Amino acid sequence: MNLEYFYRQLYHWWEQNKRELPWRDTEDGYRIWLSEIILQQTRVQQGMEYYMRFINRWPDVEALAQADEQEVLREWQGLGYYSRARNLHKAARQMVEKGTPSGPLSRGERVIFPQTYDELRALPGVGDYTAGAIASFAYNLPYPAMDGNVYRVVARLTDCSEAFDTTAGKKLFHQKIEQLLDREQPRLFNSAIMEFGALYCTPSLTDSETGACVCERCVIKEVCEGYQHHTAELLPVRKPRPQLKDRYLNYTIYLSEQDGEICTLIHQRTAKDIWQHLWEFVLEESENHVLALHKGTPYVDINHVLSHQRLHARFAICRTDRLPQIEGTRCVRLSELDAYGLSRLTLKALDQLRATAGF
Ligand code: ADE
Repeated sequence: MNLEYFYRQLYHWWEQNKRELPWRDTEDGYRIWLSEIILQQTRVQQGMEYYMRFINRWPDVEALAQADEQEVLREWQGLGYYSRARNLHKAARQMVEKGTPSGPLSRGERVIFPQTYDELRALPGVGDYTAGAIASFAYNLPYPAMDGNVYRVVARLTDCSEAFDTTAGKKLFHQKIEQLLDREQPRLFNSAIMEFGALYCTPSLTDSETGACVCERCVIKEVCEGYQHHTAELLPVRKPRPQLKDRYLNYTIYLSEQDGEICTLIHQRTAKDIWQHLWEFVLEESENHVLALHKGTPYVDINHVLSHQRLHARFAICRTDRLPQIEGTRCVRLSELDAYGLSRLTLKALDQLRATAGF
């Protein structure tokens, strides 16, 4: 691959097509970190509104660390995946607690935002992609930032039909991006290739107005093996998905006040089934659909996909003066729940209930 030509073409495209986004005219690690956490599972348009609200309310790490977790969760409401917000807040607190090299932060002193890839990667909620994105966008450090768009561009550019969502595939794609990365301009390279994947080299290569394949007008088709071999539209490849079995789970979250503490009932799963040994709320499994509730009962519905099963779960809240006697259950304080091993589905439900029902 003629890298000089590839970079020249890609950067020219970027200059002509890049979107003006609020996190793009800053090299402030905090702002870039915040934008990347928001954009992990959120579209740019929606993410922008939340980003602006967060920056206006908490313009720096110190301000975010001082906020109450509940306030942060409330501001996050609507974005989903609330663990992102909790990790954001937790990381801000960790940075303030760690302080400066000479000791904890004193009044008026500023946090030093993590400056290296390894320090960034160690923050809660920051994986390889996010650490690479912050390291390159904020500090121009030579790390790749492989999001879904970049996987697609690399698969097409190198005509790679290895599934990218397996351990072996990820390793292979990582080697490929390391070879492509422009180490002299990593900020520019990562920004441009991500944007190219987001706006031009999209999953469907058909131009919505003309119906033609956009590859014909592509500025890097000369170096694109997927174009040369007519395979671009078939790439990238995912690992085959097994047939999913549907299951319907009806949980009741009993809540009862005892000695000034809210208590609930949980039980441990013992069967050789999903989540063996983990704890969860009182469960009734049903066939074909989740069960209807009495009018006015507060609840959340959550769909959750495991490797072989699609779970449809309903969590209903039942406030009561006395918890019922149910064999195999244990009465615990809500405040103690974190001490039990809970399934991700249960954590998701708690996440939503804490954010929406002040649980
Ligand atoms: N998606 C993830 N990070 C992004 C960024 N920095 N700009 C646009 N879209 C993104």
